[in-house]
Amino acid sequence: MSNMSNAVVVGTQWGDEGKAKVIDYLADRSDLVIRFQGGANAGHTVIANRRKFIFHLVPSGIMYPDKVCIVGNGVAFDAEQFLKEVDELDACGISVAERLFVSDAAHLVLPYHKSLDTASESFMGKEKIGTTGRGIGPAYSDKIFRVGIRVGDLVDADRLTEKIKNGFERHRALAASIYKADFPLSLDEIIHRYAAVRQRMLPFIDDTAFRIFEAYSKGKRLLFEGAQGTFLDIDHGTYPFVTSANTVAGCAFTGSGIGPAAIDHVIGIVKTYTTRVGNGPFPTELDNATGEMLRKEGGEFGATTGRPRRCGWFDTVMVRRAVQLNGLTHLVLTKLDVLNKLEEIPICTHYEIRGKRLERFPSNAALVSEAIPVYETMPGWKSDIAQCRSYGELPLQARTYIERIREICYNIPVLIVSVGPERRQTIEVTPLT
Ligand code: GDP
Ligand code: IMO
Ligand code: MG
Repeated sequence: MSNMSNAVVVGTQWGDEGKAKVIDYLADRSDLVIRFQGGANAGHTVIANRRKFIFHLVPSGIMYPDKVCIVGNGVAFDAEQFLKEVDELDACGISVAERLFVSDAAHLVLPYHKSLDTASESFMGKEKIGTTGRGIGPAYSDKIFRVGIRVGDLVDADRLTEKIKNGFERHRALAASIYKADFPLSLDEIIHRYAAVRQRMLPFIDDTAFRIFEAYSKGKRLLFEGAQGTFLDIDHGTYPFVTSANTVAGCAFTGSGIGPAAIDHVIGIVKTYTTRVGNGPFPTELDNATGEMLRKEGGEFGATTGRPRRCGWFDTVMVRRAVQLNGLTHLVLTKLDVLNKLEEIPICTHYEIRGKRLERFPSNAALVSEAIPVYETMPGWKSDIAQCRSYGELPLQARTYIERIREICYNIPVLIVSVGPERRQTIEVTPLT
């Protein structure tokens, strides 16, 4: 894989597919790594040089000392969380100075957005979405309602105070009148905290769209880091059990400010089983001992909230839809090692809904909740593959499983197979051209 060119990496399921591990791996042959949507709801785990980091906002390419990392305009930006990550990196001797930039057009997530997120969830009771509580819905609502505060607003201290005051009052009124909830933080506390945040943020604020364009024009290689997954997309996911942003590859352009022609590859990260955090339909879910086993073997606990992830079998109906929605050019299969002990591995090939066979993922989430998964069964390999470093070293059954997935998913080439959480536990299958 000598020629990386420019690629978008996205999740093809409900998030936590192992995107960050793959971004970290691919970043080695990129120049810029760019987050373009979502916020600190993302939990991106990178294990490299015997260190483990969980990034929520800092792009997963930051572990390499020479990579430029960018938080694009499409991100819902929690500045306090961002600075915490910068401090953690600093404590480990990883300097981000002059190589980490945040778009002045990204919208800020303020503490009152998080309070409103929590208030809205408790108000909804059983109907709640199961959000991460990171203020994502309220912050994107402000953006779309055109009352948000942007990173660029941090530059002018007086205007910032005025805007925070207006935002706080509006959200407090909303919380009190609709959700009957109080805010834990006072306006003074927020203003005080943001005076310090503002100072520290100044060196990071940038016209990132221009920086990206300039790098692109000079032939630098761009790697776009998606967050969440295709089925959490506000338009294409299992609405209303989704996040508040687009998550599909198309969003890389609007969320960073570059045109579609800049992209050569669209890489879909596919976990070789399925997980979901939060509520909403999940056809192949295993609410039993087998699901428990996948959770244990795969360490399936949320990187952001610590919640146990719901687990189920691999669902090709979903992944085929993800190929369509993102225009995937490559698949990356992750966590294959989690299936090591299985005698047999079921793959969902289609659904039955109201007695009818359906090979297409329904665009209506209500129908998805009625779907009965139909499986074909593949033989397991029953051996440890974590040490395999080439495709040929994988047991025949593992290769057959991979080939079958590829065949069902429109024959999209498999770029990489991941057999463990560490950078070196990565097998390159197809070269990128
Ligand atoms: P992301 O949100 O898509 O970046 O994924 P998360 O970091 O939330 O969750 C993926 C988890 O699986 C993390 O704990 C990773 O360290 C781990 N992981 C990634 N790839 C593999 C793999 O191939 N095998 C195993 N066993 N773990 C993996
Ligand atoms: P990464 O990037 C998994 C889920 C939440 C909830 C829904 C809405 O690590 O893959 P939100 O806080 O966004 O309003 O919550 O979306 N969710 C994720 N699930 N991985 C993520 O990110 C997620 N980001 C949001 O659990 O169901
Ligand atoms: Mg995650």
